[in-house]
Amino acid sequence: MTRTNAPGYMTGFGNHFATEAVAGALPEGRNSPQRHALGLYAEQLSGTAFTAPRTENRRSWLYRLRPSAQHPAYKPFDQGRVRSGPFTEAPPSPNRMRWDPLPIPTEPTDWVEGLVTYGGNGDPEAGIGTGIHLYAANRSMTDRVFYCADGELLIVPQQGDQTFVTEMGRIDARPGEIVLIPRGVRFRVECAGPIRGYVCENYGAAFRLPDLGPIGSNGLANPRDFRTPVAAYEDVDRPTECVQKFGGRLWTTTFDHSPLDVVGWHGNYAPCKYDTANFNTIGTVSFDHPDPSIFTVLTSPSDTPGTANCDFVIFPPRWMVAEDTFRPPWFHRNVMSEFMGLVFGEYDAKEGGFAPGGASLHNCMSGHGPDQASYDKAVKADLRPVKIENTLAFMFETRMPIRTTQWAQSSPTMQLDYDDVWTGFDKGRLT
Ligand SMILES: [Fe+2]
Repeated sequence: MTRTNAPGYMTGFGNHFATEAVAGALPEGRNSPQRHALGLYAEQLSGTAFTAPRTENRRSWLYRLRPSAQHPAYKPFDQGRVRSGPFTEAPPSPNRMRWDPLPIPTEPTDWVEGLVTYGGNGDPEAGIGTGIHLYAANRSMTDRVFYCADGELLIVPQQGDQTFVTEMGRIDARPGEIVLIPRGVRFRVECAGPIRGYVCENYGAAFRLPDLGPIGSNGLANPRDFRTPVAAYEDVDRPTECVQKFGGRLWTTTFDHSPLDVVGWHGNYAPCKYDTANFNTIGTVSFDHPDPSIFTVLTSPSDTPGTANCDFVIFPPRWMVAEDTFRPPWFHRNVMSEFMGLVFGEYDAKEGGFAPGGASLHNCMSGHGPDQASYDKAVKADLRPVKIENTLAFMFETRMPIRTTQWAQSSPTMQLDYDDVWTGFDKGRLT
């Protein structure tokens, strides 16, 4: 039996929330009373070290039907195409790469089975780096939940409505929204048809909103637009498989009940979603355009100020009004490495070849920029105000080179002719 109060969300990013699906699930005045009024089990879920500074400290108290500890030993699970840092499977490549969309599977495949790792960097044990995955699935996870002990998951749905039934509540997501699931939080993904999307597994510091500097106290992603689910729980006495990613590998055990049995919780460590349509996009109103960091939704900082372990950046619908300016993204080489995806529409630096559900990688210091068709169009354009509409590209930008997996380097979806988009540019005229 599944029980919940009215489905809903609480607003704010990183707030201290309190929510209960049954009155009395949350103890008053203390976290761990001698006897819980409803016989629930109190459990603290710590997302940071106990002694992390208050501004960084993240933890929640969960009140559940059974202790999380009540399960048999984990055993290795079929690794499939999931890989993890340190990424040593194939030598790192300086080459620019682009992939066609990940095919929707023809065999019954759930979210866990449909995960494919394209690459990443760092090492979850060192608490730095990222794993970059795509997923394509066509059926709900049934009597199975998943959690990641190696990192937080930033999920970017690309196709199909997707429901993330988590320990801490239910999140309905669709393309255009993103979902953030903290390290350790268990969830099941449900769908009514084919789904696809991207995942940034963040081994480093938790994603947070970027500082705004001179932009001021509002703008970009505003905290009130992040939505955390209210408590919901399952009272299911049926074997439920729990798959986890730990130490770079997948593991499995079977609970004799659903572990999505949290009746109430409070704290600031919880999943949330965000609709990118609410992003307050900021750009130039004179000439040139700011660095793409102006489009940062969330950032995972590193120990070096201003140098992110990973930034999540979007290229949403927006007005282009700059005068005497080459309006598409310029040619550049970047110490940060850029993995891009496309949720829908077209990206303004590429006239073709970069399809929704596809991906591209421009690694540290590799030259890239608009393809020739985009370049030719931009230099001839009549620079009236133009609105770029119906598009959502995004980037996982990370401080270390992205080491691609063997699968990514040899997949039939890889476009072997990608370099050709930059051939044939006319030589500059000196006179
Ligand atoms: Fe770039």
